[in-house]
Amino acid sequence: MSSAPRTYWIDGRIVPSAEAHAPALSHGLHYGTSVFEGIRAYPTPRGTAIFRLDDHLRRLFASAEHYMLKIPYTLEELHDAVIETLRASGMNDAYIRPLAYFGDETIALAPGPRCSTHVVFAVFGFPPLMQDAPGARATISPIQKFSSKAMPATIKAGGHYTNSVLALHDAAKRGFDEAVLLNVRGEVAEGSGENIFIVKDGVAITNDASADILYGITRDSILTICAREGIPTAIAPLTVADLLAADEAFFTGTAAEVIPILCVDDKVFSDDRPITARLRTTYANAVRGGDPRFEDWLTYT
Ligand SMILES: Cc1ncc(COP(=O)(O)O)c(C=O)c1O
Repeated sequence: MSSAPRTYWIDGRIVPSAEAHAPALSHGLHYGTSVFEGIRAYPTPRGTAIFRLDDHLRRLFASAEHYMLKIPYTLEELHDAVIETLRASGMNDAYIRPLAYFGDETIALAPGPRCSTHVVFAVFGFPPLMQDAPGARATISPIQKFSSKAMPATIKAGGHYTNSVLALHDAAKRGFDEAVLLNVRGEVAEGSGENIFIVKDGVAITNDASADILYGITRDSILTICAREGIPTAIAPLTVADLLAADEAFFTGTAAEVIPILCVDDKVFSDDRPITARLRTTYANAVRGGDPRFEDWLTYT
């Protein structure tokens, strides 16, 4: 277990790390019937702020509903619980991991109303992925992105992530930082934990749910920033040929923030990435309270 400090809120109260355990027969642990979020808090000139907290909590509820997982709290109660946990952690630069999962009343595949739901918030330090690297070296993954007809990609559920784990393991084994997963039609879907954008002739282009992606909150933030900055955008399916012919490409996600894609297999992108650089800087400013246009995204603690 990591020795890095972690603060836990479990089922209604802050608990010491030594008590932060899940029952061994938890349905969520055995079958992946959990839903979760990844949220960041940042230091700002006005104190610690959580980025798009309620948007993350709304996605958590939407994911839970899909799995008929009843979260026994309101959004407002969870909002307050996140703030309570973050304050208890004493951190101002933190990753927040909400998790809701079916408990251990049954191992029947359809847990039904007999099964309890546990809700956890964990707060800990988690620096942005690849923050010390100029960008990500990516590879087209041989692991296919699951079809939304199998499991809806727009839902952020624990079990869905075995797909990402396999793809990232494969990419790392072959010396890459990140995988680009293709969907069942062979189009670009997304990274293992990020959405993907390309830039072509000054237009920032990304795909949508029809490509079997998670609707990332960072993706949405970048589209909004583009609109405010006057950068044209398009939502369209992306082929591998589109990706390889792009002027720039980048990943977006809460853990990763905005990461330039340096190469995809043998294709090396130009070091000149004006739009990626601009979006990366504007996003970094927005999350740290440095841009009044995006102040609504911040919840001060
Ligand atoms: C598969 C996948 N796609 C996209 C994202 C980006 O989502 P967000 O920007 O909400 O963090 C994530 C991050 O959790 C992810 O795991």
